[in-house]
Amino acid sequence: MSCNRTRHIHTVILVITASVPCLLAGCSAQAPGRAETALVDGLKRQTIGGNHWVNPIPDTADNIKIGQEHFEHHCAVCHGLDGHNTGVPFATKMSPPVADLGERDVQGYNDGQLKWIVQNGLRYTGMPSWSGILDDGEMWRIVRFMRHLPRRGSLGAPPMYRQAVNQHHAAESGAASAEKKAE
Ligand code: HEC
Repeated sequence: MSCNRTRHIHTVILVITASVPCLLAGCSAQAPGRAETALVDGLKRQTIGGNHWVNPIPDTADNIKIGQEHFEHHCAVCHGLDGHNTGVPFATKMSPPVADLGERDVQGYNDGQLKWIVQNGLRYTGMPSWSGILDDGEMWRIVRFMRHLPRRGSLGAPPMYRQAVNQHHAAESGAASAEKKAE
């Protein structure tokens, strides 16, 4: 335990040290260097728990579907309806970017680790903790869904972004015709 903590502190110090030249050089927060990314990634992998937790929810079509519904409500805003970030305008602008849940390194976690990530969130990233928002059964069903992600792009953009794009275009053409009239 104390050994873990020491390792953790060392990694934090490393991250801070690695960031100093970046701060001095005025690096953009949107483009972390490779070393910085690798350090944060290493730190993340050390802290993820849940390795021995067993998914108590059977892998049935019903449970996957319920998991998908929760995913649409809580996760699609960042991860897209398909878990591959489809149609999420800022997915690549976050630092680190929103993870594509179909990627090999995400699918390489076991169910317990995925549940732990959802429950605790990931420090130093935009991935929130869902503890107190989703109950255990809901989180485990979402994990079931994450093993059966729809094909990339097959569900289109989340509704709020579809609407936002339309409204953005409408506002622009409205402004353009108002400008014309004023001329
Ligand atoms: C506010 C945006 C946001 C929301 C909402 C969100 N996530 Fe994330 N998620 C992220 C970001 C950013 C990452 C990338 C973190 C990283 O690279 O370490 C991520 C990473 C993950 C990962 C992969 C972690 C890894 O180590 O690669 C999983 C699994 C995940 N999210 C599941 C979910 C689930 C399930 C939900 C809904 C309950 C959810 N996320 C909601 C932003 C979000």
